[in-house]
Amino acid sequence: MTQVPENVRQRVDELRALLHKYDYHYYVLDNPLVSDAQYDQLMRQLIQLEKEYPQLISPHSPSQRVGGQPREGFVTVRHDVPMLSLGNVFSYGELQDFDRRVRQALPGQKVEYVAELKIDGLAVSLTYREGLLAVGATRGDGETGEDITPNIKTIRAVPLLLSGAPELLEVRGEVYMSKQAFARLNSEREEAGEPLFANPRNAAAGSLRQLDPAVTAGRHLGIFVYALARSSQPAAATQAAVLEYLAGLGFKVNPHWRLCADIDQVWEYVQEWQQARFDLPYVTDGIVIKVNSLTQQAALGATAKSPRWATAFKYPPEQARTVLRDIILRVGRTGVITPTAVLEPVRLAGTTVTRASLHNEDYIKEKDIRIGDTVLVHKAGEIIPEVLEVVKEVRRGDERPFVMPARCPECGQPAVRPAGEAAWRCTNQSCPARLYEALVHFVSRPAYDIAGLGPAVLRQLIEAGLVRDAADLFSLTFEQVRQLERMGDKSTANLLAAIQASKQNPLHRLIFALGIRYVGEKAARTLARHFGSMERLLEAKEEDLTGLPEIGPRIAGSVVEYLANPANRQLIERLQKAGLNMQEEPRPVAAATSPLAGKKVVLTGTLSSMTRQQAKEAVEKLGGEISSSVSKKTDLVVAGADPGSKLDKARQLGVPVIGEQEFLALLR
Ligand code: IVH
Repeated sequence: MTQVPENVRQRVDELRALLHKYDYHYYVLDNPLVSDAQYDQLMRQLIQLEKEYPQLISPHSPSQRVGGQPREGFVTVRHDVPMLSLGNVFSYGELQDFDRRVRQALPGQKVEYVAELKIDGLAVSLTYREGLLAVGATRGDGETGEDITPNIKTIRAVPLLLSGAPELLEVRGEVYMSKQAFARLNSEREEAGEPLFANPRNAAAGSLRQLDPAVTAGRHLGIFVYALARSSQPAAATQAAVLEYLAGLGFKVNPHWRLCADIDQVWEYVQEWQQARFDLPYVTDGIVIKVNSLTQQAALGATAKSPRWATAFKYPPEQARTVLRDIILRVGRTGVITPTAVLEPVRLAGTTVTRASLHNEDYIKEKDIRIGDTVLVHKAGEIIPEVLEVVKEVRRGDERPFVMPARCPECGQPAVRPAGEAAWRCTNQSCPARLYEALVHFVSRPAYDIAGLGPAVLRQLIEAGLVRDAADLFSLTFEQVRQLERMGDKSTANLLAAIQASKQNPLHRLIFALGIRYVGEKAARTLARHFGSMERLLEAKEEDLTGLPEIGPRIAGSVVEYLANPANRQLIERLQKAGLNMQEEPRPVAAATSPLAGKKVVLTGTLSSMTRQQAKEAVEKLGGEISSSVSKKTDLVVAGADPGSKLDKARQLGVPVIGEQEFLALLR
């Protein structure tokens, strides 16, 4: 094996430290320090060095979050400290009973409580030895759980290493899926005809118990840590101090906890969060109340199942009754026909709801949902309104059963329900409804971002037969657009200019705009950055894709399938002929607003976060120019470690000098 040069070893350490720091700021503090592009660049450097010198690879390297092969099964782990569950209370009265029991067991003592949000996910245990993550495990039956370490490592808010931690440390926390990630996952599954998750807790549990960690990685799970189970060194005397200690070690601790002097303050907290919780990006199903003093906790002890020093206040389930007025059908961009309930408006979990998903034919049949029914609705994951059940007692007899049509409601062509799927699909590849949805996506802000191409214009363009796919947008003429309703000379000219300007978009926007199944913005960026051009992407094989950060087997498979389809290749070819930029590197158009536009920049010393070449490219991308020596004409000197005589020269001439951190800030 080749010897590892000392400077490589150092660089690897440096890169790891930087990436750990950036992960911490991004995922734990929600406060990113660098752009995704800068992060990826460092990650690529690290992966490259680890490839050249495999003896340097360590399981705690930030490059190893999604590592290893799918496993055959899970190994069980015994919990030295059992993972108990909590008793529940449902009212102020029951909360007072809990408080009374606690105080009776601690006569004459003052009792404080810590109130925390009860995150609706699943409990996990994380064990660190000498500061390194050793085992991540599920709760299981409380006595033994399953070793899910590789899956836990994919959760970016979980530190792989801690500094200043005792020799042995075991913490407990809740792994969850955000409401948004849950909604996105379910809508993808709906489009793919796969079964849906009932709520984010099930989705998180299903994601954590995957034998293939790459699947877990694609699910974007989060974690909040709330307890210290074991520590080889005494760490804190109260739950409040435990939470502060854990946050100090680098764990993600939910910030909304509160120290309460008595049970009435706990009750205030419970009431404050009753509605406010609907604005949180994750689902909470109650409040956990814990005796603050750990000495008092120990004195109170536990029953076989749950501690006497803690309880959970459960909010009543949010449901509402309303009338289902109609069932309408929506055709998605992959042709899936989804039935949606039109409801009498009703307040539910913080918003007024007028539509609810009915998912598919089977859902309607199983629940025997009819038009005119009085129904009970809720929000799955506090976000997706759903019809839970029909209130059959109030049926009058004139409610109408719903039949899924055998033809697409939009184009009238046959619809099919593929064997094994729950979804009906329109078979017409050029169904105007599919085309419309595909174009709405294509021109949307995060995709090709064509201002002025709103739904009304798109509909007209399709109806008039002027646009049959995205490529047609780029050959529209003034006369064609001018003839549409409500388009004057000025708006026509503006729209055409916006379409022209959009052709310069970087490749990742185009990849996202194509609407390849499972390829979100992040994956599109990864693909664009890695391949650099459409030409190279078109040649990609599945194995070229799966090794990329955040590209799991499902995304890779979908991209390959998309690119193998001649119709898609033809579309891409037509887009290229229309003059769309097929490169990721933007053509250097120095924005006048860039702080480096037109500036002469000199680099000296070594930068820790990028190579000289990368720094040069970064400056040029922002319209600056690199020169090799300092003169009166130099606008700025960037000084890294061990700067040379250029720094002295700059000081003599009074040229502004900045360090690496300021330089990175300029590039952001
Ligand atoms: S403390 C000994 N704190 O709720 C009790 N649990 O019903 C340890 N949970 O199994 C639990 N948020 O999965 C605690 N802030 C929080 C929590 C929390 C959610 C879950 C956890 C636990 C269940 C108990």
